[in-house]
Amino acid sequence: MRIDVELSEIAGQAIQDALGTASPAILRPTQDPKHGDFQVNGVLPLAKQMKGNPRELATKVAEKLTGHEAFAAVEVAGPGFINLRVAPAWLEKRLDALTKDAHVGISKVEKSERIVIDFSSPNIAKQMHVGHIRSTILGDAIVRLLRTVGHEVIGDNHLGDWGTQFGLLIAGMRAFGSEEALDSAPIDELERVYKLATAKAKEEPAFAEEARSELAKLQSGDPANVAAWERFVKATRVSLDKIYARLGVTFDAWLGESAYNDMLPGVVQTLKDKGLARESEGAMCVFFNELADSPKDLATFKEPFIVQKRDGAFLYSTTDIATAYYRRDHFKADRSLYVVGTPQSHHFKQLFAIMKMLGVDLRYDHIAFGSILGPDGKALRTREGKAVTLQSVLDEAEERALARIREDGLEIPEEEIAETARKVGIGAVKYGDLRQNRTTDYMFDWDKMISFQGNAGPYLQYAYARTRSLFRKAELEFASQPDGEVKLVAPEERTLGLTLLRFGDIVFTAGETYQPHLLCDHLYNVARDFSTFWEACPILKVEGAERLSRLTLTWLVGRQIATGLGLLGIEVVERM
Ligand code: ARG
Repeated sequence: MRIDVELSEIAGQAIQDALGTASPAILRPTQDPKHGDFQVNGVLPLAKQMKGNPRELATKVAEKLTGHEAFAAVEVAGPGFINLRVAPAWLEKRLDALTKDAHVGISKVEKSERIVIDFSSPNIAKQMHVGHIRSTILGDAIVRLLRTVGHEVIGDNHLGDWGTQFGLLIAGMRAFGSEEALDSAPIDELERVYKLATAKAKEEPAFAEEARSELAKLQSGDPANVAAWERFVKATRVSLDKIYARLGVTFDAWLGESAYNDMLPGVVQTLKDKGLARESEGAMCVFFNELADSPKDLATFKEPFIVQKRDGAFLYSTTDIATAYYRRDHFKADRSLYVVGTPQSHHFKQLFAIMKMLGVDLRYDHIAFGSILGPDGKALRTREGKAVTLQSVLDEAEERALARIREDGLEIPEEEIAETARKVGIGAVKYGDLRQNRTTDYMFDWDKMISFQGNAGPYLQYAYARTRSLFRKAELEFASQPDGEVKLVAPEERTLGLTLLRFGDIVFTAGETYQPHLLCDHLYNVARDFSTFWEACPILKVEGAERLSRLTLTWLVGRQIATGLGLLGIEVVERM
């Protein structure tokens, strides 16, 4: 169900009928409810094109819209806008349909695509840093959003599990490593060994040489070194799996960089054969400025894209070309998405340009995101100046949620408190990230994140719990919908009803534009409008049809918040 689309069609038809031509821009929700619910903004551009008086043209369109069952008021405003107020009966009909719709008003796309989405993708032997946290949370939400509108989505964890660090790790483990520590805290141990090994290689040329030869042995398939590498990867996987389980995040594929190893020589050969790459100082590079059909206007394309180093080693770039081939040929993907921080946008622009030249013509999107900043406005660090780990953030979130719950003396039975704190804490971290426009940096703020008021995860979980509590008090089952009809009488009911009906459009747009924050904003609006409605309209004190209508609105709120939070990867709680 998409009422924005439905109303756009009505308005588009009116423009066509009144002016004899179609308009690209049609309709948007108004900023200020005083001006109605929606505004037709499609007449202005047409007036320019037709060299007509915009207000006169708008009046003609308004005449066509007046009397349509969807609208209670149609008014020409400003230089040539038309403000529309939707008729309650039209809304009520759709709310009844929404109540009965098992898919919560989310419609399916006309053409389902197969989409591979690359997210989280941390590096072996290193802690997930803040960038990976954002990628994991955002990626998971985008997977869920695209899936719910009917796409076939394959979540792929493109682990950084190959590269020069493994020579240092193999030599380093021999010199400083503890097998026990590798079992109990693999990432910590590998990080510790890696640091020591890097330092030692700087001081002692013989050790650096040893590391290089271990790397060469690994790359040529030496069984002992391959086994060591596998052990590092497996040990890291165990601790990653713990984090993902805690977050409720899953992947359909775990194709790390190493999975593409065998394809790399072929990739470079193809680039050479097609005249896209050439040698320069022993390395193989794509020089965009030398290619006929490559974009040259952008600064992005000034530097070459290196696919093989002088010593023969392949790079992250080479792997990404192989990966794109694989996604087309193995997964038959229509779209390939990458949830990776903004600092890599240069890399992806170049990659996508090359894939286009290679004729591997999928739709590619780099889903970029900004950084998380500390209170000083610089990259988030611990008090000791170390990078903040995901694990420590989740631990602290749960502790803080628990403290808040105890402080507020919320309506939670003792045996549910720990579990509630877990859901509220993890949900707060996820929501705190997702509610931000992903492209901008944001400041990490515990108080805002754990807040029971305002646009925060706990506030939404609280709103949901209130709908449940209302049903408990009414002695009604929440699982099945109430069998009443919604009547929008009070203005607060109407506002809430209209907001609820926008869910389908929002889910669609949030998915297609990879912007989960649009869904956060919407859910916040639902919770806020519900709260206003609850204060203005008695629910349990009224009787009959009125009571049923209000309970139905409450039920719709609860179900929508639970579904919406679910699409963001956040759990709800029954009592709070
Ligand atoms: N491992 C990389 C990093 O930590 C991210 C990989 C993203 N995916 C990709 N196909 N390049 O920066």
